Amino acid sequence: MTAQPRKIIIDTDPGQDDAVAILLALASPDELEVLGITAVAGNVPLALTQKNARIVCELAGKPQTRVFAGCDKPMVRPLVTAENVHGKTGLDGPQMADPTMPLQEAHAVDFIIDTLRREAPHSVTLCPLGPLTNIATAMQRAPDIIPRIRQIVLMGGAYFEVGNVTPAAEFNIYVDPQAAQIVFGSGVPLVVMPLDVTHKALTTRARIEAFRNLGTEPGRMVAEWTDFFERFDMQKYGSEGAPLHDPCVIAYLIDPSLFEGRHVNVEIETQSELTMGMTVADWWGVTKRPANALFIGDLDADRFYALLTERIGRL
Ligand code: BDR
Ligand code: CA
Repeated sequence: MTAQPRKIIIDTDPGQDDAVAILLALASPDELEVLGITAVAGNVPLALTQKNARIVCELAGKPQTRVFAGCDKPMVRPLVTAENVHGKTGLDGPQMADPTMPLQEAHAVDFIIDTLRREAPHSVTLCPLGPLTNIATAMQRAPDIIPRIRQIVLMGGAYFEVGNVTPAAEFNIYVDPQAAQIVFGSGVPLVVMPLDVTHKALTTRARIEAFRNLGTEPGRMVAEWTDFFERFDMQKYGSEGAPLHDPCVIAYLIDPSLFEGRHVNVEIETQSELTMGMTVADWWGVTKRPANALFIGDLDADRFYALLTERIGRL
């Protein structure tokens, strides 16, 4: 008997790497059932992230996917965006037409709450790829949903790689540290894809050409997005390519054997301006604080890109 696909909600701020993550999920119906995609303000403002999410669903040939708009700013702090990385639209690179599929009327937070209340307990996994504002707002508004969540697999934070947006903090956690504190303190089983692992998921010329050589529209778009996205990290880190951060979340759900990590305690800095949004991970177990996350540190990059290319090729 084959296993039922795992039910997921993707919470996202596309973003080229978010876009690739969404394509990977929509290309993997045997493993994943995407109940909905919830947009949040992050890389670019909400008006663009909800639109970008719909562009990606149409590109995948899945315009029936439900896309919801959520919070337009973090819980406490003003919104910080990342047009310097992702361009003005958030999906700069190739030419893109406006989507024609509708945006759902419900607010993303209501959709998250209603879905978790309706579906069987421990059957829905949340996949946040941006700031945690929608997820934490849902938890704060409806604490009864917290024990119903099966797992949260998220991209955010860093320990050995420290920060990408400040010297101490990774973008998704920095943008809404109060939301991150709620999620990391929720008691829900967490799997965290920090920069420590995503900085090993680097594009190379050959990996990008493999997407282009698929000869399909999704393959060409992924190649052009990664071409655009690369320039920033190559200049910044002098690396060979760019990290495809967010697809790590979806790849983990499809094949966790690609990744290695440790169960550790992770706390979020919300007080100090200097280190705001830092993910303080007790990698060496020097405190007695209980583990609250599987903090991933390594991946098999060749197998990761092979999976991505094969799945994007199915669209
Ligand atoms: C994270 O920030 C965004 O720019 C990316 O989409 C990713 O989710 C990396 O720090
Ligand atoms: Ca993202």
